[in-house]
Amino acid sequence: MKQTTLPGTDVTVSQLALGCWGLTSDFHWGQRDPAAAQAIVAAALDAGITLFDTATMYADGANETLLGELLVGKRSEVQIATKCTPAQTTADAVAAGLDASLTRLKTDYVDLYQIHWAGTDAELAEVWGALIELKQLGKARAVGVCNLGPQQLDVVCALEKPATNQLPYNLLFRAIESEILPRCKKQKMGVLAYSPLMHGMLRGQWKSADEVPATRARSRHFSSQREHVRHDEAGHEALTFDTIECLQQFADVSHNTMVELALRWLASNPQITSILVGASSPEQIAANAATIARPLDKELLKQVNQVTDPLKQAMGPNADLWQSTEGSRIH
Ligand SMILES: NC(=O)c1ccc[n+]([C@@H]2O[C@H](COP(=O)([O-])OP(=O)(O)OC[C@H]3O[C@@H](n4cnc5c(N)ncnc54)[C@H](OP(=O)(O)O)[C@@H]3O)[C@@H](O)[C@H]2O)c1
Repeated sequence: MKQTTLPGTDVTVSQLALGCWGLTSDFHWGQRDPAAAQAIVAAALDAGITLFDTATMYADGANETLLGELLVGKRSEVQIATKCTPAQTTADAVAAGLDASLTRLKTDYVDLYQIHWAGTDAELAEVWGALIELKQLGKARAVGVCNLGPQQLDVVCALEKPATNQLPYNLLFRAIESEILPRCKKQKMGVLAYSPLMHGMLRGQWKSADEVPATRARSRHFSSQREHVRHDEAGHEALTFDTIECLQQFADVSHNTMVELALRWLASNPQITSILVGASSPEQIAANAATIARPLDKELLKQVNQVTDPLKQAMGPNADLWQSTEGSRIH
């Protein structure tokens, strides 16, 4: 498994990371089995994955607790990335939050501490300042951000450049290409790609929006008429599932599964430092790790970009997967 050192740090991470959000039960994923989580983490380690991404918000801290238990005895071999919550808007709250995360994770440092979602610019500056102090105290080896657009990057970069920006990026959601990826490239910032399989939609198993479980049908791809959607847009349901059908054809002729096509597309982009993928079984994470070493050939890459361009244009440059342009938390 390819390893990359995060810019400006001595933290080295694997090209594929285990995104741990789906290891614990919640509204989005439904019921999850702790025994399956144990097998998934073991399979990830066996496959050479060393980066594990969790967050204080996932299952209200229970995700960190589970990960801490599953990584006992492995601490020196892995990198743990976690995130403060949007409710922690003061330096004191962030410091206390990290201490609580460290207790749950059974460790005295994290490898990467990240801002999960930014509040106001003033809050963002205060929280980022707190993360920098926590790094100086040795409680975080590196600090980064998630979901920040160019204006918000201006706010944090006035203090210190983040090592990484964690962003939603997959074949069905390419919004970050318009402004955020070029900005991260210019500043040589690491990019961690989240939801690389669009919560499983890029498996190709669901043929229409109606087949997607309601709690996963919440992104801007879906109509605001759907039960759990937070935006007020019409969505792009027909175009999304037409795009998935075209991708399936490209996958078939190139002897890839859809999942392989989606992950190899990301692995072909040298700007992506690590791909944070979730899994509901050890077989899934083992298969994902096996496919990542092989980038797509240039012609297939071009065709796949072309076929997903109309959806990219329709979704626009708003990089918030869940909220409308007016309510976007990314700017
Ligand atoms: N910073 C942020 O704001 C933010 C937001 C979202 C996510 N993230 C991070 O990104 C990570 C990954 O994103 P995600 O959890 O949203 O979803 P994802 O990685 O796009 O999708 C994960 C789902 O894809 C399916 N899958 C995975 N491998 C497969 C395979 N080989 N074959 C078939 N299906 C496969 C599984 O679906 P089934 O469960 O149906 O089997 C799995 O649960 C998260 O865990 C989290 O660490 C961060």
